Amino acid sequence: MSTATKGLEGVVAAETEMSFIDGEKGVLEYVGIEIDALARHSTFEETVYLLWNRRLPTRAELDAFTKDLRAHYDLPAPILTLIKTFPKDAQPMHVLRTAVSALALFDNDDPNSVEPDAYRAKGLAIMARAPAIIAAFDRVRSGKDVIAPDKSLSFASNFLYMLNNEKPTKTMERAFDTCMILHADHGLNASTFTGRVIASTLSDIYSVMSGAIGALRGPLHGGANEGVMHTLNEIGSLDRVDAYMKDALANKKKIMGFGHRVYKAYDPRATYLKTLAEQLAKDTGNEQFYKMSKKIEDIMHEAVAAKGIYPNVDFYSATTYHCLGLKLDLFTPMFALSRISGWAGHCIEQLSANRLIRPSADYVGPHGVAYVPIEKR
Ligand code: SDX
Repeated sequence: MSTATKGLEGVVAAETEMSFIDGEKGVLEYVGIEIDALARHSTFEETVYLLWNRRLPTRAELDAFTKDLRAHYDLPAPILTLIKTFPKDAQPMHVLRTAVSALALFDNDDPNSVEPDAYRAKGLAIMARAPAIIAAFDRVRSGKDVIAPDKSLSFASNFLYMLNNEKPTKTMERAFDTCMILHADHGLNASTFTGRVIASTLSDIYSVMSGAIGALRGPLHGGANEGVMHTLNEIGSLDRVDAYMKDALANKKKIMGFGHRVYKAYDPRATYLKTLAEQLAKDTGNEQFYKMSKKIEDIMHEAVAAKGIYPNVDFYSATTYHCLGLKLDLFTPMFALSRISGWAGHCIEQLSANRLIRPSADYVGPHGVAYVPIEKR
């Protein structure tokens, strides 16, 4: 009888000082600060500083961190040239994974270094450049000129500016910045675990990010926010939600954006994103998807809340990103833009007390099998 724990469910595989999650009560804290307080009062830059340094920065520290981040907004020219060679119908998550991996080729300061300061600096540079990768690809595939980063803008504002060639309203900037705060870190989720495994071999941070982006793309993980939008598009209108959900539940279909390996209560990020989605839907006159989402939630609450299945971070982020004017296939890249900060923080943490991550597997195959020459098979 195998002793393997499927999906490592409930297995404690590391210690971390970054995120605390209480799945029963629906609590998420970054270094002890509740996510709701950070979403209301912080910025993405300040949150990243908190996660990486385990404390909030002074004004001078935040200014220095922000200056360093913005100094790395620009892409190396060969990366921009490479992006322009990509097929216009390439998937943005494949583009992000490929271009982040290619950044290693133009790192002239030992791309493989795991020396703490160098590793942290490389993590910051990857985080700073990822928005330009996504924005540049979207502009090129749309037949538009690439917009160079503007170092006078925040992380959130600069991304939306490079994407749309116009500076976002304060409301749009704040909404996007809040999404970045909410998605930054979340314990040992699949993509973070992937990154820590790669980091534990003392491999380079570009390999960490490439692997983690690959894990995040999966529809059971970060890809779910796009899955939610596909569901809303498939349903089509508010009056068709009931019939769709009746059929889906009868056929035990998994509803994207619901359920969680850890949360058996409402994901606190979903609480905040629901409010954000409702506000943006009203502001932009895009209320249909919010109303459909709310109705799906009400039906799911009736049907499966007793099983501990609630909306997760992806359910209302779909409507939020849609109201921010983002194309559907940019939703998961948005998750990645934020989570690069969490992955880097976890790998810095892994390396601070490293031990190669190498679990065991129960062998359940045969023994004593004779080798039969091919002519006798
Ligand atoms: C993220 O880990 C993290 O922290 C991830 C994340 C982060 O910030 O990094 O929070 C981000 O990935 C959020 C999750 C996004 N994924 C989705 O929304 C995809 C849909 N959700 C499911 O596939 C599922 O809920 C998982 C994968 C998220 C979690 O699944 P588990 O823990 O493996 O649970 P399970 O699939 O074994 O389901 C347990 C029961 C089953 O019913 P029974 O067979 O016991 O009767 O719950 C049911 C499932 O059918 N169930 C669902 C459901 N999710 C679980 N039923 C309907 N719809 C769903 N979405």
